[in-house]
Amino acid sequence: MTAMKENFHQYIEKLPPTILTIFGATGDLSLDYLLPALSHMIEEGIFPPNFRLVAVSRRPWTTDEYLSFLKQEFKARNRVVSEKLLSAISYFAGDFDHKSSFNALAGVLGDKDIQAHSCFNRLFYFATDPKYFEFLSHVLKDAGLLKSCAKHNRMVRVLVEKPFGSNEQTAKKLNKLLLTYFKEQQIYRIDHFLGKEVVQNLLVMRFANDFLEPVWNREHIDHIEVSVLESELVGKRVNFYDKTGAIKDMLQNHILHMLALTLMDRPQKLAPEEIAKQKLKILRSLQLFTAAKAKTDLVIGQYSDYRSSGGLKSETETFAALKVTSSHPRWKGVPFFLRTGKGLARKVAEISIHFKQQKNKPKEFLTAAPNVLTFQIQPDESVRMQISNKTVGFGVELHTADLVFGYKEAFKHEIPAAYERLLLDFIQGDQRLFLASGEVEAAWRFVDSIIPYLENATLERYLPGCNGPKAADKLVSKYGGWWTK
Ligand code: BG6
Repeated sequence: MTAMKENFHQYIEKLPPTILTIFGATGDLSLDYLLPALSHMIEEGIFPPNFRLVAVSRRPWTTDEYLSFLKQEFKARNRVVSEKLLSAISYFAGDFDHKSSFNALAGVLGDKDIQAHSCFNRLFYFATDPKYFEFLSHVLKDAGLLKSCAKHNRMVRVLVEKPFGSNEQTAKKLNKLLLTYFKEQQIYRIDHFLGKEVVQNLLVMRFANDFLEPVWNREHIDHIEVSVLESELVGKRVNFYDKTGAIKDMLQNHILHMLALTLMDRPQKLAPEEIAKQKLKILRSLQLFTAAKAKTDLVIGQYSDYRSSGGLKSETETFAALKVTSSHPRWKGVPFFLRTGKGLARKVAEISIHFKQQKNKPKEFLTAAPNVLTFQIQPDESVRMQISNKTVGFGVELHTADLVFGYKEAFKHEIPAAYERLLLDFIQGDQRLFLASGEVEAAWRFVDSIIPYLENATLERYLPGCNGPKAADKLVSKYGGWWTK
């Protein structure tokens, strides 16, 4: 048995029978992320012993037709779908504009209970356009599917995909709506970056290693960088992306939540509400944008082929870089440089903590390179610390090198995909890596402060395959910082 399986088996044995219903089972999200994750998990045995999947979409198919579709889609993605997963799937055709088309859903889920001689935990995955979330919640409630089973101690949970609203107001509205159908403990708002191993490691690195806490503040940290760079172009998602742009697509969720994990105070315990409370404090402390700040601290760009590839005339940004500060006493005055973009030289996501250089040391050491602690989230999962050493030989010459902790060497390549981890947490009812309502709203509040200034900001053009607009380099250098990559 592999180390990863050993590690997971302690959880699996405790998992209750589970029936997962995915709404939007023919969409890109399901095909690119969810079903591959489920397929891999089930093949590896990292799954509840009694698991059923109900795949829902509009297409008027039978289960067999859906399964053939699935096999083809996996093949087109150079993947093989697990036979065990295929045998766990039933397909249900439901038209998201016609409530009556869902009349039979309760019967399908009920039949599974009868076959299993027990109730299943009922998990619902909303992987559709958010405009259907209300309709789906309503359908489920009316069908009596939101009642948990006290006799078998079975739960009902819902997982909601991004985008969670399109601004603070719509996010609040959506939270309010979901909270009329579900309790907060039943709602899983996903941000798949929080399921990536290195992002999960942030809390462990910060709070299990006692030497870091005393230097994790404005006295010792010069600046922090969070970059999520992608080489892929927008491609076939152009219709969605054109209305969204880099700031809403990547900054509002992945980047701000990683920043919050990097800056937050120590939680008293690793409980979801404690973690959310500390992250929320950070998100609320971020200085909002004003017209003056947008002029100096924001760069947006668009790669040169964007319009021609989608036939669009849009001003949508495919790149954004910004300087952010926080009013939290620990971080006052420390700049945070955030950057994301598509069509760049390479795919890499990193958080780098740049330490200050102290002046009160022997003059021979004043030229030492600053210490930089970098969490590489992808592609090469690792934690590195840039340090100074003595060069071998006579005299005292400095040599800069990295202390590296590489996941692939340490864990023999067994790094679960983010969706695998998050699906397992959803199944076992662990909300720690999911977002609380307030966090989503606070992140939107910050992003909402930027949006009005996009219109007048210069949209810098950059060539696909480069490192982004030069203006982004100038943005950091004028504050004495630099991008690590
Ligand atoms: C998604 C964004 O949330 O994350 C995409 O909508 C982006 O635009 C993707 O490409 C990146 O995720 P990953 O895990 O493939 O790096």
